[in-house]
Amino acid sequence: MHFPRRWRREALLRCDNNDENERKNKLIQIAIDGPSGAGKSTVAKAVAKRLGIIYVDTGALYRTVGYYVRSREVDPKDPEAVAALLPEISVELKYVDGVQVVFLNGENLGDRIRTPEMSMYASAVSAIPAVRAFLLNTQREIAEKNSVIMDGRDIGTVILPHADVKIFLGASDECRAKRRYDELTAKGIETTYEDVLSDMRKRDLDDSTRSVAPAVAAEDAIPFDNSWMTPEECTDKIVALIEEQIKGKKI
Ligand code: DC
Repeated sequence: MHFPRRWRREALLRCDNNDENERKNKLIQIAIDGPSGAGKSTVAKAVAKRLGIIYVDTGALYRTVGYYVRSREVDPKDPEAVAALLPEISVELKYVDGVQVVFLNGENLGDRIRTPEMSMYASAVSAIPAVRAFLLNTQREIAEKNSVIMDGRDIGTVILPHADVKIFLGASDECRAKRRYDELTAKGIETTYEDVLSDMRKRDLDDSTRSVAPAVAAEDAIPFDNSWMTPEECTDKIVALIEEQIKGKKI
């Protein structure tokens, strides 16, 4: 299917104030939520490329806050201590050659936020309401200015409740753990499949049972299980699903 040019990033990045409302109406928002290792980022990245829109990885924001908390040797589960650090933190989302880069106080942390330890720190700080409030505008602002496909845990429920399409991506625990294990070992991070599986189950339980913005599917989200699908198969099906959902909608 040919996507209207008006969706295209170039057409959306700049325009007159007069066109502000019209422009906003033309933006498209796609929310992809789901547990860790469901393949959200791989698929969302590929879908973004196919549709010519921006991919926003919101987990990277929580990982960045977690990284700072770790660097200050603060307990990530202590809401008051973590909240007290927030005024010292500036988290910026930028796009370099179309790829998202997150800056912590002006520094690009690269893969330092991708370790299993940072996954646990991110999960712990993400349960703190002050942290979620701190990162809320960064996420909404980017979707106000660009057409996006955004992945996370509360995109369809909290960040973009009026998203055009909401997908809740899942896969069996074993499948997800295998993917995460392959990803980490490919990056040279030493771990075992068993450790990845048990960390993942713990993190999923924490993320989905926390009191603030738990990782659950929005009522109007489409559940999509991609166990044993290749990334390409999953991308094709998700693109088809998005086309189907968007069809007939006035954007
Ligand atoms: O998607 P990820 O594995 O990079 O996310 C790391 C942690 O951040 C995850 O365990 C839960 C939290 N998170 C969240 O609470 N809300 C989001 N929108 C994204 C991530």
